[in-house]
Amino acid sequence: MQNMVYLSPEKSSVMSSAQPDFNKVKRVTVHTLQEMKEHGVKISMLTAYDFSMARILDDAGVDVLLVGDSASNVMAGHETTLPITLDQMIYHAASVVRAIDRCLVVVDLPFGSYQGNSKVALDSTIRIMKESGAHAVKLEGGREVKESIERILSAGIPVMGHLGLTPQSIYKFGTYTVRATEEMEAQKLYEDAQLLEQLGCFSLVLEKIPASLGEKVAAKLHIPVIGIGAGGGVDGQVLVMHDMLGITKEFKPRFLRRYLNLYDDIKKGVSQYIADVKSNDFPNDMEEY
Ligand code: KIV
Repeated sequence: MQNMVYLSPEKSSVMSSAQPDFNKVKRVTVHTLQEMKEHGVKISMLTAYDFSMARILDDAGVDVLLVGDSASNVMAGHETTLPITLDQMIYHAASVVRAIDRCLVVVDLPFGSYQGNSKVALDSTIRIMKESGAHAVKLEGGREVKESIERILSAGIPVMGHLGLTPQSIYKFGTYTVRATEEMEAQKLYEDAQLLEQLGCFSLVLEKIPASLGEKVAAKLHIPVIGIGAGGGVDGQVLVMHDMLGITKEFKPRFLRRYLNLYDDIKKGVSQYIADVKSNDFPNDMEEY
């Protein structure tokens, strides 16, 4: 593999013949993720966009926080991920980085900040790394963005790939439906995944593809493959935090497991607060000076 950025197993801090306890890793790096794949230990990844939530997710022990361009949807209320700007991504990323002690922070390069011109891609990435303190970037696409990936990697910055449903191309796809169900698209994805590994990407996200294809790609690649709607045969899973906590209510894809129902819980709490204020129950004697 060209441009590989991983420590060899002998040099690794946690590697030994016995299974390392990855929970004890003080700082998750791209090397940690590589070792997790080699030991068959699944990688947990969630999105985060702000300080307070990132602190909770890091404290809970998540391995990777992705400052996703899904911030455009869940934080800013846009219909697609396209409008979010580089400055806005840097603002979210810096907030997340200030919160974390352990996890690896990966930041999405937003639409328009890396396609077509590798110099622009490197400039955008350097701004993210310098101004947010993040540890790696993610970008969407395969062979089309080869030169941008090479140029970013040449500056020593780890890159995570993203194939399958790539939301920045939504107007090309026309729909958010499952990708690569047809042989031609599946074959292109399989080849692009290998290309990304050869270029030196440290990891790959596969979004909304058949589980059999996700498993095939993860088995072929040496780098960790993290899925969202790509089945259980990959090396780790990522979900949008607002979706898995039940803050978003209407979004119900088949791949989503909701762990909480925060929309209803928050609404209930706020309704009680309103009622308490209106009835003069809040504040009581103990809650005033
Ligand atoms: O922006 C995002 O949240 C993502 C995940 C869906 C992987 O790219």
